[in-house]
Amino acid sequence: MRDAQPTAIQLTDYKEPAYEVVETHLRFELEEEFTLVTSTLKIRQRGESNELFLNGQELGLESISIDGRVLGEGEYTLGDESLTLTGLYAEHTLQVVTRIYPAKNTALEGLYRSGGMYCTQCEAEGFRRITYYPDRPDVMSVFTTEIIADAGQYPVLLSNGNPVSEEVIGGKRHAVWHDPHKKPAYLFALVAGDLLVTEDSFTTCGGREVALKIFVEPRNIDKTAYAMDALKRSMRWDEDVYGREYDLDIFMIVAVDDFNMGAMENKGLNIFNSSCVLANPATATDAAYQRIEAIVAHEYFHNWSGNRVTCRDWFQLSLKEGFTVFRDACFSADMNSATVKRVEDAGILRTVQFAEDAGPMAHPVQPDSYIEISNFYTVTIYEKGAEVVGMYHKILGAEGFRKGTDLYFDRHDGQAVTINEFVQAMEDANGVDFTQFRRWYKQAGTPVVDVLTSYDSGAGRLTLTLRQHTPDTPGQTDKQPLWIPVQLGLIGKDGSPLTVTPDQEEFWTESSQVLHFREAEQTFTFSGLEQEPAVSLFRDFSAPVRVNYQQSRETLRFLLRHDSDGFNRWDAGQRLMLSWIDDAREGRFELSDDDISVYRELLNDTDLDPAMVAYLLALPSESYIAEFSGEIDPLAIHSAREEVSGALASALRDDIVACYQRLNIAREYEPDPAHMAQRSLKNLALSYWSRTGDDGLAAAQQQYQSADNMTDQMAALRALVNSGDRMRAQSALDDFYERWQSDPLVVNQWLSVQAGSAEMATIEHINDLLAHPAFDWRNPNKVRSVIGAFANQALSRFHSADGEGYRLLADAVIRLNESNPQIASRLLAPLTRWKRLVPSQSQLMKAELQRIMQQGNLSKDVFEVVSKSLA
Ligand code: PHE
Ligand code: ZN
Repeated sequence: MRDAQPTAIQLTDYKEPAYEVVETHLRFELEEEFTLVTSTLKIRQRGESNELFLNGQELGLESISIDGRVLGEGEYTLGDESLTLTGLYAEHTLQVVTRIYPAKNTALEGLYRSGGMYCTQCEAEGFRRITYYPDRPDVMSVFTTEIIADAGQYPVLLSNGNPVSEEVIGGKRHAVWHDPHKKPAYLFALVAGDLLVTEDSFTTCGGREVALKIFVEPRNIDKTAYAMDALKRSMRWDEDVYGREYDLDIFMIVAVDDFNMGAMENKGLNIFNSSCVLANPATATDAAYQRIEAIVAHEYFHNWSGNRVTCRDWFQLSLKEGFTVFRDACFSADMNSATVKRVEDAGILRTVQFAEDAGPMAHPVQPDSYIEISNFYTVTIYEKGAEVVGMYHKILGAEGFRKGTDLYFDRHDGQAVTINEFVQAMEDANGVDFTQFRRWYKQAGTPVVDVLTSYDSGAGRLTLTLRQHTPDTPGQTDKQPLWIPVQLGLIGKDGSPLTVTPDQEEFWTESSQVLHFREAEQTFTFSGLEQEPAVSLFRDFSAPVRVNYQQSRETLRFLLRHDSDGFNRWDAGQRLMLSWIDDAREGRFELSDDDISVYRELLNDTDLDPAMVAYLLALPSESYIAEFSGEIDPLAIHSAREEVSGALASALRDDIVACYQRLNIAREYEPDPAHMAQRSLKNLALSYWSRTGDDGLAAAQQQYQSADNMTDQMAALRALVNSGDRMRAQSALDDFYERWQSDPLVVNQWLSVQAGSAEMATIEHINDLLAHPAFDWRNPNKVRSVIGAFANQALSRFHSADGEGYRLLADAVIRLNESNPQIASRLLAPLTRWKRLVPSQSQLMKAELQRIMQQGNLSKDVFEVVSKSLA
């Protein structure tokens, strides 16, 4: 908690550390009430300064000694969150003993208890809650860790690196771990508990035998198989695609129930939110399986992009996160359908990231200041950062990109570097000048590209004019033009692809079909066209921009039928659907025969990937629609979308029922792409069918009863919950709880299916869920399942005209502000968008932000978001 106004940290204030920590020896004595930490550091001066600065938070200092001599109180300076020593020589051994209280740690940073076990979370600045230490990523050290705990209660004691020894002395277990690789303190981890393990092994390309272990609480031992499988595939993929081999004899994953984020890439000892690693067919949906595959891969890939090459400071966060998200996205694309993965990722960009970029927390991929770094683990750093990395891939092609990453890893292995070093490696490996491209890291806001095309039939020439501008964001005006790769296709009248070469060949890369759009306005011409082509722009979502391009509904339907680029096929359909929703809002919506027939064809096209058909038929979500609106009116969006959805369901009813029946065949559950695709289309069909009347609801009930896997069971439950038939919904919900109450991960799904449903999520109902025995304010997953689902999904309820939804969210933020500031701050996101709402709602949202601001003891996390939102 703060006492004064928190100050912002600036990138331009970066200074190298005065001392390096050559070796770090940690000893943890885990007692019931407290833990004693003895840290012994071999420190070495690096430059002129002989001031040793150590970070520390909420620590009980027991003693300090230098080279074996205990220091008196006058020999060091103890600040609120620091310990400073001056007048040192070049090399010393510093020993610090601190006392900490893991059982009282509700912030879930540093060392804390989750259920019966101890675990740690040190990124970004959690290590300073364990001991006094230069807690910054450019201080990299070799760690040895000794853990001492009651032998009966804590049979499993883990830390980073390789195991050195383990013995029981007088009822206490002593375990020693050594990590030979230098690492920053944020990658430190420790786990102690009564855990079961699933074991496997992997032989690396270099012939190293690696033991793979997944540790879980005993009740979860039947849920580790998929994560293990995903881990082995990730290890192989990183060797094949990036030439990166694993570097320890052991790789461990531990599942914990109380975790602020998804997972953490601690060296050799990844710690996972149990929702992102545990699955079996009966309890986890296909979506959960895919999330697990992606996150296991993501954390594993960090071993190179993050751990071996790490960040100099936290302004470089996207160096590891953007790159690693790009890596895991390519992995998922290779394992499943690449088009579906692209559609999903673009969906997240266009809803969550575009919204962030248009709001008060907008920041560049490389921010230049922050108050609380935890607030910067954002979709901009992660997902936009990944898109920026993806653009090198588009511009350079796969080979050039690989040359760049090889050079980057070779040059910087074992170092803490900046984003600039990554760009430099791409430049040097390819002989390309990325000076202009660097603006992507510095300019916040989503670029807007306006497109005009005209066709001169006499000359057989198409003219394409592109204009770009990036809107102002807080603290940033006058943005410069970006280098935007525009992947382009032209399509003939019969649906076949035409050869594209612009007359301005210097702006074209043939191999990747990319046009380089680099000025505020640029005109390209394409000659020798015998007929007017349909233009397919930004294929594969080639740049994270908003595009304004008026194409007729006829053209959109044509693209939806014929575009060879799967992503743009989907995009054309979404644009068509958005135009229907606009019509519905103006009270003049009607599905045309042409609309119906194109969707009927898609539904019956058995050559298409069923997962893709499901995406093509799904309406844009309410938050997606909101991002494509000017002033946001959530109630109007909701009713327009409902109208369109109902109309589509009844127009296609017979085909939908047939599709459902065709796909609803009993097969043993497999979490592979083909089976998942089949279930996704079947369940999409069920969601439409269940809107059309009693037989659809009966089908949902039937599926709910007979399902042997959570994907089908949850889809049926969702259909019932969303049906508006309160009786049927409640009886299915009661039955579901009865069956699953002992499995917290399933109960979380039960909470969120209700809290996120416009049909169910009245304020009274949300309050009932908060009062339910299954709910727990201390567990972030539960908070997200109720409050997060409510505020982010049940938009028409959250934005109810009386402001009660906002009040409920603000109350939750105030309640969590002290106990878990990170979660409190993350929950706030929907309120920060207040300026974009219709005036009546906007004022109510602002009032709740002001109410939070008036609380006396705001954490830095909440203070930063609220104060920036009100600025
Ligand atoms: N570094 C983690 C990841 O992206 C995320 C994380 C950040 C986890 C901070 C915990 C705390 O993989
Ligand atoms: Zn990450």
